Amino acid sequence: MRLSQSFIPTMKEIPSEAQIPSHQLMLRAGMIRKLSSGVYEFLPLGYMVLKKVEQIIREEMNAAGAQELLLPALHPKELWEETGRWEIYGEEMMKVIDRNKRQFGLGPTHEEVITDLVRKEVKSYRQLPVILYQFQTKFRDEIRPRFGIMRGREFIMKDCYSFDKDEAGLKINYQKMVQAYKNIFTRCGFDFRMVQADSGNIGGNLSHEFMVLANTGEEAIYYCDACQVTMKAKEPEGAAAETIEKQLCPSCQKEMKYSRVIEVGHTFNLGTKYSAKMNATYLDEKGESQPYIMGCYGIGVSRIVAAAIEQSHDANGIIWPKQISPYQAIVLPLDVTNEQVKNTAEDLYARLKGQGIEVLLDDRDERAGVKFKDADLIGIPVKVVVSTRGLAEGKIEIKLRQTGEVFKLSVAEALSKITELIQV
Ligand SMILES: Nc1ncnc2c1ncn2[C@@H]1O[C@H](COP(=O)(O)OP(=O)(O)O)[C@@H](O)[C@H]1O
Ligand SMILES: [Mg+2]
Ligand SMILES: [Zn+2]
Repeated sequence: MRLSQSFIPTMKEIPSEAQIPSHQLMLRAGMIRKLSSGVYEFLPLGYMVLKKVEQIIREEMNAAGAQELLLPALHPKELWEETGRWEIYGEEMMKVIDRNKRQFGLGPTHEEVITDLVRKEVKSYRQLPVILYQFQTKFRDEIRPRFGIMRGREFIMKDCYSFDKDEAGLKINYQKMVQAYKNIFTRCGFDFRMVQADSGNIGGNLSHEFMVLANTGEEAIYYCDACQVTMKAKEPEGAAAETIEKQLCPSCQKEMKYSRVIEVGHTFNLGTKYSAKMNATYLDEKGESQPYIMGCYGIGVSRIVAAAIEQSHDANGIIWPKQISPYQAIVLPLDVTNEQVKNTAEDLYARLKGQGIEVLLDDRDERAGVKFKDADLIGIPVKVVVSTRGLAEGKIEIKLRQTGEVFKLSVAEALSKITELIQV
């Protein structure tokens, strides 16, 4: 993509409405814009990252034996009344009325809808287990939408549901999902921990949260990496550093580490919580009717994009982990009025594209300082600098966004070096 033709509206100033780095940087890098409180537009650059994250999740979910589908956002009130959650969810559910005065909720989560689908289609133990998932816009009228897409009122979630004939089956699938989640968050480049948690509005017997370590997180955990022990910290809200209580590891008795965290995923052992209330049953080996044993597994897809920035940025901007970077390289001709600079950059750009590398070309007639600032702001891992001075020595400069490492190479050497750097 040529920057001169792209829709990447970067900003120099730090927007006053944004308090945390990811929100500031997503606005400044032209990734998102606000439409209304807790409601955001994903611009092309932001959407590219979202799609990358989505694809990583999709690959791991499919590998774990889950099948993708797409459920409606409009949920009839009657369905939510079957579980009593029309009342329980209350104000947090966005509601609409159709022309016949029928009430609907905009889905904040999909246990009712998926259970209704499965109870109509899956009648026998022979058809179990079933694991289904989707990527979808969720609506939650959060009391305090904040930090941009981190806590939105409309956001993208991956939600997955498993249906088993017994607890043993659920245990296997729950473990598969936990492993898939670990793979996903590792591939996203996260430093994360898994912690046992409350089940909240979704409910069930047992649940785990996947927490990205970041000091702007809304919650906090204690962890001991030697023993793989983690626990949630109580109410870190507003807590100053000196009020953080010490916590000894129940296993090795050493002091545990403390960190604020961002919840990016949540898995629930639901048991029969929904199937019993919704009369969602199958016939077992003896021909007896039994409720499905369910699990549900959510990931905040859009929140991951923000969490990645919280964990990886500096004073100049975003530092994308390669796996989710919107582009892998950016070619910076520092003086496009110099024919040799322009042609060399164009040639490199064409060759990189030809190799299937996602590359940006800053072909704008801008000062070098402006180009460097924007490249650092949007956080592309590999910068390829073509300058008049460099070419006089027959050299091109390759700079890594993350480490600042610089390579000065001939034009001929540059191409294979870039390919090598991107693949590492
Ligand atoms: N308002 C929100 N904005 C963005 N992402 C959210 C929001 N609420 C939840 N998520 C993401 O969706 C995942 C699954 O949601 P869930 O655990 O049901 O929500 P919660 O933890 O808010 O009760 C969470 O782990 C989180 O990553
Ligand atoms: Mg949760
Ligand atoms: Zn320990």
